[in-house]
Amino acid sequence: MKLKKWSLILTIILFIFCIWHLFFRCKFDISSFRSEKVTNLNEFKFVINSKICRKDEFLIAIVCIAVDNFEQRKIIRQTWANFDSIKTVFLLGSSVNKSVNKLVEEENKFYSDIIQQDFIDTYSNLTLKSIMGLQWISLYCPNVKYVLKIDDDVLVNIPFLVSYLKSLKYLDNYYIGSYQIGAPVIRDEQFKWAIFPSDYSSNCYPPYHQGPAYLISGKFAPVLYNISKYTRLFKLEDIYMGILAYQTKTNYVAINGYYLNNPEFSLYQTRQLSRNGKSKIFAFALREEFLAIWQLFKKLINE
Ligand SMILES: *[C@@H]1O[C@H](CO)[C@@H](O)[C@H](O)[C@H]1NC(C)=O
Ligand SMILES: *[C@@H]1O[C@H](CO)[C@@H](O)[C@H](O)[C@H]1NC(C)=O
Ligand SMILES: *[C@@H]1O[C@H](CO)[C@@H](O)[C@H](O)[C@H]1NC(C)=O
Repeated sequence: MKLKKWSLILTIILFIFCIWHLFFRCKFDISSFRSEKVTNLNEFKFVINSKICRKDEFLIAIVCIAVDNFEQRKIIRQTWANFDSIKTVFLLGSSVNKSVNKLVEEENKFYSDIIQQDFIDTYSNLTLKSIMGLQWISLYCPNVKYVLKIDDDVLVNIPFLVSYLKSLKYLDNYYIGSYQIGAPVIRDEQFKWAIFPSDYSSNCYPPYHQGPAYLISGKFAPVLYNISKYTRLFKLEDIYMGILAYQTKTNYVAINGYYLNNPEFSLYQTRQLSRNGKSKIFAFALREEFLAIWQLFKKLINE
C-alpha cells in the first residue's frame, strides 16, 4: 500500500517535470529563419540529371552520399535498392577534384541514377543536398507518392516499408520518421552538430525527424521547396527540414518503433529480432557491419 502511494507521487512529480520541461524550459523560436522575401536563391545548376521517374511511381529513394563514395553506391545498388518496388537516385554535390567528377560522369553513363549539382560536396553543405532533392522531386518526379530521404549508412527493409506505406491513407503532406520533440541545441564544440548562439539562439529545436531516414509525400516536396526559398540555411539538414515543415500544414507521423537507430547495436539487435522472424524497417549501420545486417534482412524478406 505504502509503495503504491509513493510510486503515484513519483509519477506525478515526473509528469509535472516533463510538462515544465516541454513548455517552459525548452523553447524554440524559428522567426529568425523566416523572411518575407526570397533569401535562399538556390542558383545551383544540375550537372548530371537522371530523369528516371515515370508518371506513376510509388516510392523513390533519394540517397545522400559523398561524391567520391563510389564503393558504397555499388553496395547500395546491390542490396536494399535492388527491388522493383523502389527507384533510387543518389544526390551528389561536385568535387573540387576534377577527376572525381569525371569518374562520376562515367559511373552515371552506366547506371543512370545520379543527380549532381555544382555546389561543393561537403558535410556543411548537406542541407543544400536535401534542398536539391526537394527541387528535383518537384521538377522531375512530381507525381511520386512517397519520397524516402536516406543516408548511405542506413539499411532499409523495402518490402516492410512498402507494405507499411500501402497501409496508410494517402495524404499530400506527410512527414514520416523517427520523431524528435524538444531536442536540445548542442553548444559543445567537440560535436560536429554543435551550433553557435549567433546561428540559432533558442535552447531547443522545433519537432523534426532524425536525418538518416525519413519520408515525405511526393506532393509535399514542392511545398517545402518553396518554403526553403524564404528560409535561411541551417547546416543541420534534419533540423532544417523540421523548420520548413513547422511553417506549413504538416502531417507528422512518428514511427520511431520501426528504427534501429543506434549503429553500435544494430547488428546485435537485428540478430535478436531475426531469430524470432522479426525485423525493423530501418537500421543505422556501422560501415563494416552493413552487409552482415543486410544478410539478416534478406533472409527474412525471402522467407
Ligand atoms: C583526385 O581523384 C583521383 C581519382 O579518385 C585520385 O586518384 C587523386 O589522387 C585525387 N587528387 C587529389 C589531389 O586529391
Ligand atoms: C558549399 O558550396 C558552396 C557552393 O559551391 C561553396 O561556395 C561553399 O564553400 C561550400 N560550403 C562549405 C562549408 O563547404
Ligand atoms: C511560396 O511560399 C510563400 C511564402 O511562404 C507563399 O507566400 C507563396 O504563396 C508560396 N507559393 C506557392 C506557389 O506555394
